[in-house]
Amino acid sequence: MIRLRMKDETSLEEFRDHVRGLIAAKIKPRDVTWSGPGDADLFGDAPPPDVKVPKFTVPGAYVDLARSVLCHRDPERFAHLYELLWRLLNEDRMLLAIFTDPLVYKLKQMEKAIRRDRHKMTAFVRFRSVEDNDGERFVAWFEPQHLILNNVSSFFVKRFANMRWTILTPDGTLDWDRSKLTFGPGVPKSQAPSEDALEEWWLSYYRSTFNPARVNPTMMRSEMPVRYWKNLPEAALIPGMLAQAEERAKAMIQAMPTAPRKATGFTLPPSTATAGSLAALKEQAQTCQRCPLFCNATQTVFGEGPDNSPVVFVGEQPGDQEDLAGQPFVGPAGQVFNKAALEAGIDRDRAYVTNAVKHFKFEPRGKRRIHKRPNNNEVEHCRWWLDRELNLIKPKLVVALGGTAARALTGKDVKITELRGKTIDYRGGPSILFTVHPSYLLRLPDEQSKRTEYAKFVHDLSQVTKLLPLAGKAA
Ligand code: URA
Repeated sequence: MIRLRMKDETSLEEFRDHVRGLIAAKIKPRDVTWSGPGDADLFGDAPPPDVKVPKFTVPGAYVDLARSVLCHRDPERFAHLYELLWRLLNEDRMLLAIFTDPLVYKLKQMEKAIRRDRHKMTAFVRFRSVEDNDGERFVAWFEPQHLILNNVSSFFVKRFANMRWTILTPDGTLDWDRSKLTFGPGVPKSQAPSEDALEEWWLSYYRSTFNPARVNPTMMRSEMPVRYWKNLPEAALIPGMLAQAEERAKAMIQAMPTAPRKATGFTLPPSTATAGSLAALKEQAQTCQRCPLFCNATQTVFGEGPDNSPVVFVGEQPGDQEDLAGQPFVGPAGQVFNKAALEAGIDRDRAYVTNAVKHFKFEPRGKRRIHKRPNNNEVEHCRWWLDRELNLIKPKLVVALGGTAARALTGKDVKITELRGKTIDYRGGPSILFTVHPSYLLRLPDEQSKRTEYAKFVHDLSQVTKLLPLAGKAA
């Protein structure tokens, strides 16, 4: 009997060296026993006789299958893979295409389990920000079902190439310093950081994007299996949100917007219309019909804040909740904005907040109103109000939150990615600082990009406090 021990149990190279020797010595699968590094060693190794290895090729699909299945925790995987190789070489080169073969089926199922585990790890790793000697590092704790750490490492390196991060697992650790990946031994969960400053933001984001009217617990459980919950901060919110879903959905239906008004034709405020105060200007804006957007919106949502504010924040247009409340930035994007502003040291109550366009533009879809970006014409018409707001307030600085605001303030299309965080003096008016719109952060597909982009957003906003005295209540 040949006894082989895999020292690095997920290593395709080590497995390949073993099976080459076995094939060369014509050792049948039933005459080999395999073990991994953690298995009890009762009899010691008994390798095959040293025979010159003849050249042989195996189908590429076998190599891919073996690379994946070696990550499975099933201790029989080495034996199954060797048996498959033996049969491929001695019975049927097309064996892998026969899905009804019990061995092929079993190995394909194992491959599928690895694919799923990889997918879950890429979706459910939750980094937390910690400080070490070299600055900020993102550390995550994860418990993969299989031994996929090596296999999945390139995903994280590519995805988060510019961050310093560590992923801790019971099987091993990955450590990336922006240029080199280091593998280390597994650690207990007690070594993982438990909470960071972004946690609260992540939870409030998760809460605000949970739509009780579309909840499907079966789907949720299959997408986010219960075994991962213990390491997901947002999982603690789920039972409570599910319990309230029905009530909240009913309330949403009752709070449906009022029926659209009939268009009465477009009238421009007389060019002589002047308002000596923001309050008077706001009053005039309530009946604005400069463009068709007033027809479907519930009301004009005018700017808000002190009329002597040194800074004015300009968003795009009111969203669904702003349209109902009549106030800017009170919905999900507003919550992100408030939190980021506070972290940047800005007290929102001491700043004036408004939008480039004062009516909500949307497309009805079923019972929902889906935000539609205003076009250049609409932005141009509404600039009439924005110009007057700025003339009355005379701020030192205007912050353009996103592309629409930037267009309204400069009259040009602006690439926010190129200008974000920068301040320009424009046409002798107040300086303009550019940054992204907070709803951009809500739309990002994965949690890690959200965190990184959020940190950049706070950094952009912190330029305001460098330029102006606007200390927040709790920076
Ligand atoms: N988005 C905006 O641009 N403004 C708001 O008031 C709300 C969302």
